Amino acid sequence: MLLGVNIDHVATLRNARGGIEPSVMEAARIAEENGATSITTHLREDRRHIKDEDVYTLIKTLKTQLNLEMAMTDDIQKIALEIRPHSICLVPEKRQEITTEGGLDVAGQLDRVTEFIKPLLDAGIIVSLFIDPDENQVKASAKTGAQFIEMHTGTYSEAFGTANEEQEFLNLKNAAKLAQSLGLKVNAGHGLNYENVKRMHEIPGLVELNIGHSIISRAVFTGLGEAVKKMHDLIK
Ligand code: PXP
Repeated sequence: MLLGVNIDHVATLRNARGGIEPSVMEAARIAEENGATSITTHLREDRRHIKDEDVYTLIKTLKTQLNLEMAMTDDIQKIALEIRPHSICLVPEKRQEITTEGGLDVAGQLDRVTEFIKPLLDAGIIVSLFIDPDENQVKASAKTGAQFIEMHTGTYSEAFGTANEEQEFLNLKNAAKLAQSLGLKVNAGHGLNYENVKRMHEIPGLVELNIGHSIISRAVFTGLGEAVKKMHDLIK
């Protein structure tokens, strides 16, 4: 199973001061050096974390592959067609949400999704649809021409360790099986952490997990001791 690392939170931290630190390019480099097989960034409509210049630089500097998460808007589609990432993941986007809250409603807008992804597919970009593990959404996704779905693991992640865990996990397992039987490849992501990720191995054929928040959160504490020590040594 492959690991795509989402580095949006590094950009959030950088933007808090408006400068260039911490660098998303450096974050991508470290992720790549430690096993990431792709770097994921979400170029949101409000550009709250990743900026246009980040994706234009990443596409030139990455040693692995750029997976661009994007909503169905014309201006982001234009950027995707210009930079041609290895893959895009189509996500729903609401302005007020803190993070991507639910899966894309492919079944409710099948023609629109099919039309929107066509130029991207024609340009040779791999297209993935971020959907809830729901039978109707999987079946609709298989009709669009997209090669991948990414199953939203948020509900499973929240249910982990509770009475609902088994049902939520089963939903993921069944959705993956159905998708694969319809010729789709399956990724998964959202809310995965160092505990709940372990069950992903029980889903046969998962290609890649996209993980951001738990990795960046952990990095703060695995790196904080060294960072304090270095400053302390300097001012001693
Ligand atoms: N996959 C998709 C489509 C997402 O929108 C996100 C969040 O940006 C992730 C994966 C990563 O989620 P998390 O940050 O909770 O690991």
